[in-house]
Amino acid sequence: MATKIDPRRWCEGRVHSLRQWTDKLYSIRVEAEVDPFTAGQFTKLGLVIGDEFISRPYSYVNAPDETPREFYFVTVPDGPLTNAMITLQAGDPIQVMRRASGFLTLNEVPDAAHLWMLSTGTAIGPFLSILKTAEPWRRFQRIILVHAVRLAEELSFAETIASLRDRYPDQFDFIPFVSREDTDFAIRARIPAAIHDRRLEQRAALEIAAGTSQIMICGNPDMVKSTQAELQARGLARNRRRAPGHITVENYW
Ligand SMILES: Cc1cc2nc3c(=O)[nH]c(=O)nc-3n(C[C@H](O)[C@H](O)[C@H](O)COP(=O)(O)OP(=O)(O)OC[C@H]3O[C@@H](n4cnc5c(N)ncnc54)[C@H](O)[C@@H]3O)c2cc1C
Ligand SMILES: NC(=O)c1ccc[n+]([C@@H]2O[C@H](COP(=O)([O-])OP(=O)(O)OC[C@H]3O[C@@H](n4cnc5c(N)ncnc54)[C@H](OP(=O)(O)O)[C@@H]3O)[C@@H](O)[C@H]2O)c1
Repeated sequence: MATKIDPRRWCEGRVHSLRQWTDKLYSIRVEAEVDPFTAGQFTKLGLVIGDEFISRPYSYVNAPDETPREFYFVTVPDGPLTNAMITLQAGDPIQVMRRASGFLTLNEVPDAAHLWMLSTGTAIGPFLSILKTAEPWRRFQRIILVHAVRLAEELSFAETIASLRDRYPDQFDFIPFVSREDTDFAIRARIPAAIHDRRLEQRAALEIAAGTSQIMICGNPDMVKSTQAELQARGLARNRRRAPGHITVENYW
């Protein structure tokens, strides 16, 4: 028997378009009447697959006032939802959870001179949503977006990043990491190692320090854990509501 989908929690959206970036990376754009959300938050997408309703969390890539809604995802081997989503066509229905969740948002981040946004893989998405809003540019003197991927072809959203560079040339820096091939533009390393040996800061010409830096980290949970450990060894601490620190994180699995 097919699962009942509660219309108070879910709205039926329509696929606007599916963009394929590589053999495994896609953006799905969806028209959906969702509740207002804060940049950096995630919602859930769901499909009835066979007799089962399967839903998973995905971060908004679009700014809160932007439509259609955009989600950036990688097809996971044998992953039920991602492999179903890539078969969708414009006009197909897709369930979107009305209320967004998550604390990878600027209202969780105290003021500082510098904002570092560290991501692996698809986790660049929520940072792009934040960077499309006015708030970070009002609050931070310098913003460094780091995107770590295995292969150079996985550095999606080049146009969005170029337009941020054009708009905020003195404020914004984008630092790509490509771990599994040599390039003449990216750091070939993992993020925690490049913090440890200071290659990231050399590249940004900016020091990570408790007095000046706020760090947001998103993506691969092992990366999040090791990056946090490197930062804690430098005297930075997790942001807690009652005890503001420097580090704000979200794990993708
Ligand atoms: C808060 C939050 C936000 C998320 N936002 C996104 C997003 O914006 N884009 C996105 O692609 N995924 C995101 N995810 C992961 C997503 O919810 C699904 O787990 C993923 O799309 C796979 O779904 P699936 O049903 O195909 O396979 P599943 O059976 O759910 O996944 C199987 C395994 O694949 C691996 N995996 C899952 N997601 C990823 C990923 N993004 N990159 C590399 N390996 C992964 C993990 O090992 C996971 O256990 C998010 C997860 C959380 C918790
Ligand atoms: N077939 C497999 O064995 C296998 C294994 C893992 C994932 N996958 C699948 O491959 C797809 C794509 O994954 P992805 O490349 O987007 O994500 P990813 O595996 O998280 O890789 C993204 C970047 O994060 C780095 N990274 C990985 N583990 C890290 C850690 N512990 N600490 C710091 N950095 C780390 C990677 O470096 P490195 O290149 O050094 O790893 C890479 O630069 C997913 O579908 C995933 O399920 C397959």
